[in-house]
Amino acid sequence: MSTVDLTNKQIVLAISAGIAAYKAPFIVRGLRAAGAEVQVVLSANAHHFVTPTSLQAVAGNPVRQDPWDSAAEAAMGHIELARWADLVLVAPATANTMAKLAHGQADDLLTTLCLATPAPVLVAPAMNQQMYRHPATQNNLRLLETLGYELIGPDSGEQACGDEGPGRMSEPDALIAAVGRTLATPVPGNLKDHTVMITTGPTLEPIDPVRYISNHSSGLQGLSLAEAAAAAGARVIVVAGPKVQASSAPIERIDVTTALEMEQAVQSRLPEVDIFIGVAAVADYRPATSHEQKLKRSGEPGAEMTVSLVENPDIIAGVARHAQRPKLVIGFAAETNDTLAHARAKRERKGLDAIVLNDVSDPSIGFNSANNAATFIYDGGEVTFPKQSKRQLADSLISQIPDIFASQLADTNPETVTQ
Ligand code: PMT
Repeated sequence: MSTVDLTNKQIVLAISAGIAAYKAPFIVRGLRAAGAEVQVVLSANAHHFVTPTSLQAVAGNPVRQDPWDSAAEAAMGHIELARWADLVLVAPATANTMAKLAHGQADDLLTTLCLATPAPVLVAPAMNQQMYRHPATQNNLRLLETLGYELIGPDSGEQACGDEGPGRMSEPDALIAAVGRTLATPVPGNLKDHTVMITTGPTLEPIDPVRYISNHSSGLQGLSLAEAAAAAGARVIVVAGPKVQASSAPIERIDVTTALEMEQAVQSRLPEVDIFIGVAAVADYRPATSHEQKLKRSGEPGAEMTVSLVENPDIIAGVARHAQRPKLVIGFAAETNDTLAHARAKRERKGLDAIVLNDVSDPSIGFNSANNAATFIYDGGEVTFPKQSKRQLADSLISQIPDIFASQLADTNPETVTQ
């Protein structure tokens, strides 16, 4: 039985002409078993691999193939269908279909629909391993990601053509789970009566009036969490480092520059906080001296200069061992190697209830990018989230927190002030 809940969700399954299309009826059945209504769209040649008759039987809706089918258009025009969808899943997505999507071509119903829909589009590549590895396909995959398409898979292994390698479409269960994650939204009221404090962005540690130590954090991941928490009904306080963009969500924001200022802001409001989430990339060290005047060059080429650094306080570890510790303290871990082992150890060392691991050796996620992928590590479980937008990841995390930590969150903090 499916553990994914897609009750009242409207999904378009868009099938292009690859051998993996024979699995499409299982995807339709799984989506319907999870509660979704499903409309099926075939590319011009997909019927060579799976029959419209069997798809219509499992979907319980007529299958659409032709943008010029006046009977189908009279029932639901293709633009209407594009608007109807809560999500479009392109599975299998052939190299040809991905190339068209990457370049905005709309020469059949499937590609027109993807261009016309405001809904998220998930793409499940499926093709021969050599076609998958081709630089043209790889370029198209990167383009699709920058355009906001979410890629699911492919898996690697034995292929229908006898080859071995990457290009197998992800299994129907994995695709349905990805649909569930993408459509997971914070349940309004789920965090009602809770105050959530989130640190985000970099800190900036001045060397002199014009130079500083900092990092590439944009603050987007923390801000996305703040927006998701506000959508779940929480009262939200964001402590933001420099250059973090504005947000339209109803959140209280405290702007800081240095790690010491961030620590002070956090500690001063801690008694009000039920859930603390440390997303900020706090500079671990600051210059021992911040010079009032701009430092001058020595004028000697190759001359060395030393800046002494002192360690900054560990803000989140201080929150976790504070006398007025929030009920839940969640950290982030930016790791580049042995990521799981380091993140698990960091959670223990800092005394955190949970930690969200980012592998920041991948430049397409983490610092200063639109997307993120993560493993949520807590006592008794680990959940992996594939690459997705930072807001989608925030929605998934925030929608799971009340369930995972139900007993810890049960008592309402008497000092919590509701807005
Ligand atoms: O801001 P974005 O561009 O959206 O990028 C998001 C992100 C990559 C910055 C974010 O997802 C992330 O991984 N944040 C944690 C970055 C980090 O500094 O990780 P860390 O492994 O060094 O720190 C572990 C935890 O300790 C973090 O919760 C951090 O906030 C906290 N910490 C670290 C040092 C310190 N002196 N005080 C702290 O509180």
